[in-house]
Amino acid sequence: MNSYPVASIDLAALKHNFDRIKQLAPTSRIISVIKANAYGHGYAEVANVLTDSDAFAVARLVEGIQLRKSGITHKIILLEGVMTAAEIQLAAQYDLSPVFHHRSQIQLLSTPLTKPLQFCWLMIETGMHRLGFAKTDVAELITTMETSEAISGDVGLMSHFANADLVGDDRNQQQLDITLHCADKQRCEVSLANSAAILSFPASHQQWLRPGLMLYGVSPFDDKTAVELDLKPVMQLKSVLTAKQTLQAGDQVGYGGDWTATKVTEIGIVSIGYGDGYSRYLSNAGQVMINGQRVAVLGRVSMDMICIDLHTCSDADVGDEVLLWGGEQLPVEWLAKQANTIPYELLCQLNPRVRREYHHGQS
Ligand SMILES: Cc1ncc(COP(=O)(O)O)c(C=O)c1O
Repeated sequence: MNSYPVASIDLAALKHNFDRIKQLAPTSRIISVIKANAYGHGYAEVANVLTDSDAFAVARLVEGIQLRKSGITHKIILLEGVMTAAEIQLAAQYDLSPVFHHRSQIQLLSTPLTKPLQFCWLMIETGMHRLGFAKTDVAELITTMETSEAISGDVGLMSHFANADLVGDDRNQQQLDITLHCADKQRCEVSLANSAAILSFPASHQQWLRPGLMLYGVSPFDDKTAVELDLKPVMQLKSVLTAKQTLQAGDQVGYGGDWTATKVTEIGIVSIGYGDGYSRYLSNAGQVMINGQRVAVLGRVSMDMICIDLHTCSDADVGDEVLLWGGEQLPVEWLAKQANTIPYELLCQLNPRVRREYHHGQS
């Protein structure tokens, strides 16, 4: 059923963005980050296009198992690792590769496993103070992991930038220096670069890249658009005009009456709301496109609906398609700023009530 709202996903654009990464870092291997349902784009559909990836990364065990069950045979990294003996057993059973970032996880290596884990990573804390071991512990822990019967093969060293979107920030160089210093001593391969670092900090590329946002054609920088970075936006979120109203001066719109007409005004009702993941922070702040025109969101976003200003396009009619974000006309980056958030959040919070539709270059 071709229902609205729909997230229309351009798989040709996804492939273009992947190829762009190859162009920027031709000698590095690519761990495509497809956690949180591939940033809202669909785990399996995205993985099945990004088959030239050298590995995939998700945050949690359940995501890794879901990918395996959908037939993905690539290496799959669990960025948050495993928490219990049962989880490490499942990781081994499903050939998933945990990141080890805490001593409680190192202790789990004594769990009897049906087969050893492969392609494992040690997370080093270099400045973000979220996950990872102190640099002084790295030598001991790499040795423990590499000599453990629970792990086969070499262990890589991973860290994560806290400020990669701030190009030229000294803290990025410091994080890289700490990682490289430890990796040199242990002769480990390194993975550090996320999208912003891939685009702006070539020294950080090293052996393994971890792109997320840029795969989906979204700019990680405040001051550069996706188009300027030669990225193609992958998702267009669309819905439909379900009703029209003519307001008189003084009429108020939606819950709390947060928008008041000052003159006779035509408004439209669009089938999308926070129950789909369309942010409530776009109340009186967002814009949509209808019949080629950008118009304002009026009043509060409700669970299933928003109201839009049609005073400049009164020819718009019930059934007309409405673009909520996407493409070059209404970038998700711009909308995220309007909602006081980041594009990652808008994309990830789109929920299953929004149908996904896949195509290869025509929407
Ligand atoms: C550990 C880790 N690596 C890589 C990424 C990908 O980052 P980006 O989407 O900015 O490319 C993320 C995303 O949050 C992450 O948490």
